[in-house]
Amino acid sequence: MLRRNISNHIRPLLMLLAGLIIGFSFSQQLRNNDCAFRLSLPSGVFSAREDEYEGHTIPLLPTGADDLLTRSITATTDNNTLAAQLYNETRVLCWVLTSPANHAKKAIHVKNTWGSRCNRILFMSSESDKELGSVKLPVKEGRGNLWHKTREAMKYIYDHHFDEADWFLKADDDTYVIVENLRAFLYPFDSKAPIYFGCKFKKYVRQGYMSGGAGYVLSKEAVKRFMEEAYTNEKICRKRSGGAEDKEMGSCLQNVGVVAGDSRDEYKRGRFFPSGPQGHIIPKNKSAWYWRYIFYKTEDGLNCCSDYAISFHYVQPSYMYVLDYLIYSLRPFGIFKQIEALPAKRNMTDLLEKWRKEESDNPL
Ligand SMILES: *[C@@H]1O[C@H](CO)[C@@H](O)[C@H](O)[C@H]1NC(C)=O
Ligand SMILES: *[C@@H]1O[C@H](CO)[C@@H](O)[C@H](O)[C@H]1NC(C)=O
Ligand SMILES: *[C@@H]1O[C@H](CO)[C@@H](O)[C@H](O)[C@H]1NC(C)=O
Ligand SMILES: *[C@@H]1O[C@H](CO)[C@@H](O)[C@H](O)[C@H]1NC(C)=O
Repeated sequence: MLRRNISNHIRPLLMLLAGLIIGFSFSQQLRNNDCAFRLSLPSGVFSAREDEYEGHTIPLLPTGADDLLTRSITATTDNNTLAAQLYNETRVLCWVLTSPANHAKKAIHVKNTWGSRCNRILFMSSESDKELGSVKLPVKEGRGNLWHKTREAMKYIYDHHFDEADWFLKADDDTYVIVENLRAFLYPFDSKAPIYFGCKFKKYVRQGYMSGGAGYVLSKEAVKRFMEEAYTNEKICRKRSGGAEDKEMGSCLQNVGVVAGDSRDEYKRGRFFPSGPQGHIIPKNKSAWYWRYIFYKTEDGLNCCSDYAISFHYVQPSYMYVLDYLIYSLRPFGIFKQIEALPAKRNMTDLLEKWRKEESDNPL
């Protein structure tokens, strides 16, 4: 029993260690890995920002590296029956909040890595771009317009792609998502229920709201309510520009009865993260903003994160390829993977009731 437990934990540990080592050497070179906790952000703006790396240089990938970053031989011969089944049964549309300045710098690397694993990937911008395939929304650029852009992105999706998915994930162009884990997490829930998930923060909105950078995912019913009840009604959902994108979304959704769900795993470890893996694994200064915002009592260190984690934020373009390698290709020899089974379907009536009444257990 003990042996089995150990071997079950070796692979994720090795992966995390490899991630740490690479993460550290990256941060040595680039020194902007932990910017999430060094920036002193004013309240309510842990949402998509275009200048997260303010004062730091984003490492550009060398031109012509595209071929090198495409894996022509993949070692994956695993049985992917379940992932293939989920691809069909739990359809996820991903949309990425980006801007013209970041099309080639960041968004294209989302497209080349995790974005391709979504059932549909859309890049929401104010300019169209052939290579990226971005959507030109009728919005002005700038941090003050992120909420407006989000509203228009929702409208675009509702008007053009609503039938294509059961769940709708919003991410930033520096978010990294393990899409298979997102599907497996969502599988037990009914997308006809008014629900959304992400990294839950406890401020500003009574039931909490989801961090924009960690990405949040709305059920089909949540999108429908947002568009039919919130989008059109200024009294319950901000229409003016300005406002933090994630906080406004949280407030609009609450006002139309969409419940902020709990996405932690059975060991109460998170799945959506507002910083990079190293930002959560390496213990943070107790005065970091994170502790004041996080809804659920959480640990740093290797217990921070679910083995089935879904998203990380502040992931540099180049690191997305590294994560792809660590997660999808690298493996320790001779260690059996756990046999995975789909989680059981859940009763939404009970869950909605429970989460609607939930209060933060984070004392800080
Ligand atoms: C692959 O996994 C599925 C579901 O777990 C199982 O039914 C099937 O027999 C497996 N196929 C192989 C070739 O191992
Ligand atoms: C998924 O759906 C496609 C199209 O309907 C079908 O061809 C394929 O066999 C399905 N795959 C699985 C694993 O169910
Ligand atoms: C934690 O952060 C606070 C405020 O930024 C700072 O004053 C303090 O020295 C830091 N503590 C440690 C142990 O780094
Ligand atoms: C879910 O639970 C409620 C109340 O506990 C019950 O009335 C309902 O029949 C259940 N729904 C399903 C689909 O099992």
